[in-house]
This record gives sequence, C-alpha cells and structure tokens, in this order.
Amino acid sequence: MRKKTVRDLDVGGKRVLVRVDFNVPFDRKTHTILDDTRIRAALPTIEYLIGQGAYTILCSHLGRPDGKVVEDLRLGPVALHLAGLLKRDVTYCLEVVGPEVEEAIRLRRPGDVVMLENIRFSPGEEDNAPAFAKQLADLAEVYVNDAFGTAHRAHASTEGVARYLPAVAGFLMEKELEFLGRVVASPEHPMAVIIGGAKVSSKIGVLRNLLGKADRFLIGGGMANTFLAAQGKNVGASTVEQDVLATAREFLEQARQQGARVLLPIDAVVADRFAPDAATQTVDIDAVPEGWLVLDIGPKTASLYAQEIIDCATVLWNGPMGVFEMPAFAEGTHAVARAVADVQGTTVVGGGETVAAVAEQGLEDQIDHVSTGGGASLEYLEGQELPGVAALLE
Ligand code: 3PG
Repeated sequence: MRKKTVRDLDVGGKRVLVRVDFNVPFDRKTHTILDDTRIRAALPTIEYLIGQGAYTILCSHLGRPDGKVVEDLRLGPVALHLAGLLKRDVTYCLEVVGPEVEEAIRLRRPGDVVMLENIRFSPGEEDNAPAFAKQLADLAEVYVNDAFGTAHRAHASTEGVARYLPAVAGFLMEKELEFLGRVVASPEHPMAVIIGGAKVSSKIGVLRNLLGKADRFLIGGGMANTFLAAQGKNVGASTVEQDVLATAREFLEQARQQGARVLLPIDAVVADRFAPDAATQTVDIDAVPEGWLVLDIGPKTASLYAQEIIDCATVLWNGPMGVFEMPAFAEGTHAVARAVADVQGTTVVGGGETVAAVAEQGLEDQIDHVSTGGGASLEYLEGQELPGVAALLE
C-alpha cells in the first residue's frame, strides 16, 4: 500500500516535525562530518517544506549516546553543515524538548528551520516512551518521517510520535520505498542479486526472501567461502561458518529447484595472512593453497559477474566482494561497482560498505538508487515490516 507523503498534506504555515537520519560518519575528536550523503539526501524534503512556508523542526540521532548527554555527540556541527547546504540559517537547540525548544520555535517565521539536539540524549527515545513521544508531538502539527536509515527502530521519534500527529513520508523515504519495494515485490526480469559481505548468517534472510524473485544470485565476499565449503571445495584457511553449512546447501538446492542460478567465485585473490601487506596471489578456486586465505574475488570472477548482470533489467547489490578496506583486496569490489554502473536496467545498491565502494569510485550518479539504509535496507529486503514505515498513513 502506498504511503502518504508530505505532498499529500497542506503544510503551509504549519509546524512540521521531520525525523531525519543525520547519523553520519563523524570524527568525535575534531567534530568533523566525514561523509554528508545522508544530510544531502534529506535536502529535497527540507527545501520543499521551506518553499511551502512551513516551520521545519528537524530531529535526528547521532551515534549511540544511550539516553544521556554526550558532549561530542551534540548536533551543532551537523546543524552548521546543513545551514551551509541550505544557504540559510538553521536554529540549533541545545535541548531535545522543553520550554527553551518551544520558545525557539515560537520565535521563528514561516520557512525557518530549527534543529533539535541529538534525540538519543533523551532516555524516552529508544524506550519509545509514550510521554516523550507526546512531548515531541506537541512541538508540531504534522510529522514527516524521512529517516529511512532508522525506520527499522521502533523509537519515539520514528514510531511513537506517529500516534499523535498526521504522519507521512518525506521524499527520501518515498524514494527508498519505491526502489527497494520494486525489488522485493515486482522486479523486472531478468533480475540479478549480487550479495557479499563476511557472513552467510547475516544475509541469508535476504537471499531467502529473494528466492523466487531473482533469476541469478552472484555471491562474493567472505560468505562465498562458506558456500564453496558447502559444495565440498577447499578454501584453505579462510573462515567458514560451520554452523550454517547446511543452511547454505539448502539455499543452493532451493534455488536449483526454482530455476534460479547461483554463481560462486571461480578464482580468488588469496593471502598468506590477514594483513594489508600480506603476500598475495591470484588462483583458480580449485587451487587455493593450504593455509592461505581467500580475501577477494579474482579477475575471472569479476568479468563473469559483469557479463551476468549487463543484460539484467534489475540489479540489486549488497555487500563487498572482498576485504575492500585493504587496497590489495579491493579490486573485486571496485570491478563489480563499475559493472553495476554500466547496467542499463534499474540498479539499486545498499549497505554501508557497498555504498562506500561505489562512492570511492565516484559512481553514485550512475546507479539508480543508492540506499541510505544499512540495517534498515537489509531488514526491508528480508521482507520485514519496518516500524517507522508501518506507522505512516496509507
Ligand atoms: C544507521 O546508521 O544504521 C542508523 O542511523 C541506525 O542507527 P542505529 O543502528 O544506532 O540504530
């Protein structure tokens, strides 16, 4: 069911509480924002509200302060950065709720923007305490959730507050639901799912949910070692999740029965130890030396995966192909990023590390949708209902 959006309500002259996810990579010592993607992603909603003459009241968390004030997690630097992007003042409150916040809002004019202090300084936030949710709601007349990245949390500012105000999606939330929703509900075929990352156990929910929808699964990253081991292959000293070998075998069998192809690496970059300066070699997957670790897909796998996705109408990618934070094991992930960028069909990329790999190559603009959600997009792709989405009007 389509969720109502900020377009569906008259917000002119109204106080609008907007939950954003400004939980950005942040250097707590220097108070520096390391990546402002999430802030930029919320600009369309904020600029729309400004244009409509609403009083925009922004709230977000930063980090995990656990219900108390943590000085180096204050949102001042984020408010300042936002003001620079908007090219207008943003009134930053040192409190989350209370008389000073109410006064700051009362003094504003239509089109002004206020930012509340880190919402997780209040213990009521993560507890989803009704009294705190009501206090938040009392600041505004309309509630907009644009924090897709936090929509998997049932907190006061993502779920509780929606009980007291008309609650609609912002434009970022709308875009995330549209693209991820299409992938899980009605993808165009052929559809390829590229899944990587360290563990089968953290991605098996997504793989299972997309069985019967995707035509091809291309597997990389540490989790590929478990799939290879499940097929009886020798992966040297690589980590294998012994407790999910049966699950991996079961998935391979179910995919076979459904006519979906599952591709595993055919070659690999191996290392003599887990270190950036380890000795490395590229070997066929049947020739992993005893005692060595598989830390990236090899070039043959990368070009096979590129061929497999190029004609796809839908490509979803979540999870790196290797230990890409070490340059010696980054090429497989980078090659897949370039291949996804070349696809003419709809391309959707999610997961913090995957998004970072795309950004490192400057390829964001060649991907149809780069999700701002980490845990939220995984849970959504697993087919779970996100509390922050469920709370919005239909
Ligand atoms: C995220 O970065 O995944 C979201 O902002 C949610 O943060 P959390 O995992 O601390 O709830």
